Amino acid sequence: MRTTFLLNGSEITAETSPTTTLLDWLREHPNLTGTKEGCNEGDCGACSVIITDANGVRALNACILFVPQIHGKAVRTVEGIAAPDGTLHPVQQAMIEHHGSQCGFCTPGFVTTMAAAHLNGATDHDTQLAGNLCRCTGYAPIIRAAQAAQAAPAPEHMRDTPLPFAQNTSGGPQAGAEPPTTPDALAQWLDQNPDGTLIAGATDVGLWVTKDFRDLGKTAFLNRIPELAGVTVTDNTIRIGATTTLTDLQTAIAPHYPAFAELIRRYGSVQVRNAATIGGNVANGSPIGDGIPALIALGATLHLRSIDGPRAMPLEDFFVTYGQQDRAKNEFVEAITLPKLPDALKCYKLSKRFDQDISAVCGCFWIVVEDGQVTDVRLAFGGMAGTPKRAKQAEAALLGQPWNASRVKSAMTALEQDFEPLSDMRASAAYRMEAARNMLWRAWAEGDGQATNLHAVTA
Ligand SMILES: Cc1cc2nc3c(=O)[nH]c(=O)nc-3n(C[C@H](O)[C@H](O)[C@H](O)COP(=O)(O)OP(=O)(O)OC[C@H]3O[C@@H](n4cnc5c(N)ncnc54)[C@H](O)[C@@H]3O)c2cc1C
Ligand code: FES
Ligand code: FES
Repeated sequence: MRTTFLLNGSEITAETSPTTTLLDWLREHPNLTGTKEGCNEGDCGACSVIITDANGVRALNACILFVPQIHGKAVRTVEGIAAPDGTLHPVQQAMIEHHGSQCGFCTPGFVTTMAAAHLNGATDHDTQLAGNLCRCTGYAPIIRAAQAAQAAPAPEHMRDTPLPFAQNTSGGPQAGAEPPTTPDALAQWLDQNPDGTLIAGATDVGLWVTKDFRDLGKTAFLNRIPELAGVTVTDNTIRIGATTTLTDLQTAIAPHYPAFAELIRRYGSVQVRNAATIGGNVANGSPIGDGIPALIALGATLHLRSIDGPRAMPLEDFFVTYGQQDRAKNEFVEAITLPKLPDALKCYKLSKRFDQDISAVCGCFWIVVEDGQVTDVRLAFGGMAGTPKRAKQAEAALLGQPWNASRVKSAMTALEQDFEPLSDMRASAAYRMEAARNMLWRAWAEGDGQATNLHAVTA
């Protein structure tokens, strides 16, 4: 497959298999081995590169980024961070001055992630660097370096312009056929290749290749279909295209449902959120996908599409049982729509670490209280069953009732009729149940004005 992109300022065309990762491609070039392989699964940030496209400048993990995903974009690796005359980038200079590197293995990944944040003017360094691991220096000097560099102007050579051709131009023939570039063409393609693999952000699919060594067969890259991306807000509805990244969703949803945006901050890392799409999060059917409880609590409608036309359903009905979703082999996720209403959403994610960790339990609650009575309620949980699921018994204990401590306690008890959670390496069944109950109590306590946020550890 042919992919054309800008690499450290120069246009280049690469011929690769559809599932060659950018990291593997870079490391086969003797002058581009600064980008490191640590985990090869998106967890450590050693392979971070800077990608510029129509959506802006983003750090991404090259280890789970297939080369065709960067078609038409600009890539800047650690080799392209210093100026052409050798002058160090402000973050490189600051890393030296603040002793931000010992063995140096993580350093290229930190420097690229920091340079992307620097270019974007981002100063929330803990969040920006949560996807980069360092085993020896310790994070304080690195954060000090990021702080020291933040006021310096961004060097001009860092401002890449993506290639002029549109995102939907062909990246070259694949098995003799043009890759789909419109939703209609994708529907046709999927009809002809029902066992083919759709690739959106590749934060799941990438690991099938790098960890399971799977042959994906025929592939279609959804980043070639502009109509599938982006968020459209109208008077009554918020429409989220399937390939909207979690980063773009976070920005777009924050003014409407800030609790959802805050939940997304706990989703993977900056690099993962810059790649992962909400359509992929839905389509993979995981019982612990973090986007799903929030969408269900918001009353989301899922829009599927195939050669036979569109099909819509409440998102909660999509998840039939563990590993099974209501999606025919020739259907794809096109979009998700949400009602635009006065905000009544609360979201809580419980995981062993604050950043870059999968939920043990995720609870998202839509609770409308009018004149002291609960007039609308949806309580959606991830991690409590084989699918993301609403707590219908607990909802029944609240709906039409006064919103007070005693009713909330009844709903907490009712959760035992809703769920029989599993024990696994993330949490025991008993712990999950207690955590779910406590999330409900927390929602009540917050509304009651009590301090509940104990997250006080910051660098
Ligand atoms: C380091 C790391 C951390 C992570 N942390 C989190 C986390 O905190 N919370 C969380 O929920 N998830 C997390 N994930 C999982 C992952 O990011 C999500 O599941 C993600 O949303 C998948 O989206 P994607 O675009 O990358 O999907 P892909 O990997 O491209 O695809 C996933 C699946 O969905 C299918 N698919 C994709 N788009 C469509 C579509 N439009 N229609 C039909 N099928 C489609 C693909 O064929 C594939 O089967 C993490 C992953 C990594 C690697
Ligand atoms: S090598 Fe660890 S995130 Fe890519
Ligand atoms: S400097 Fe050694 S891992 Fe960070």
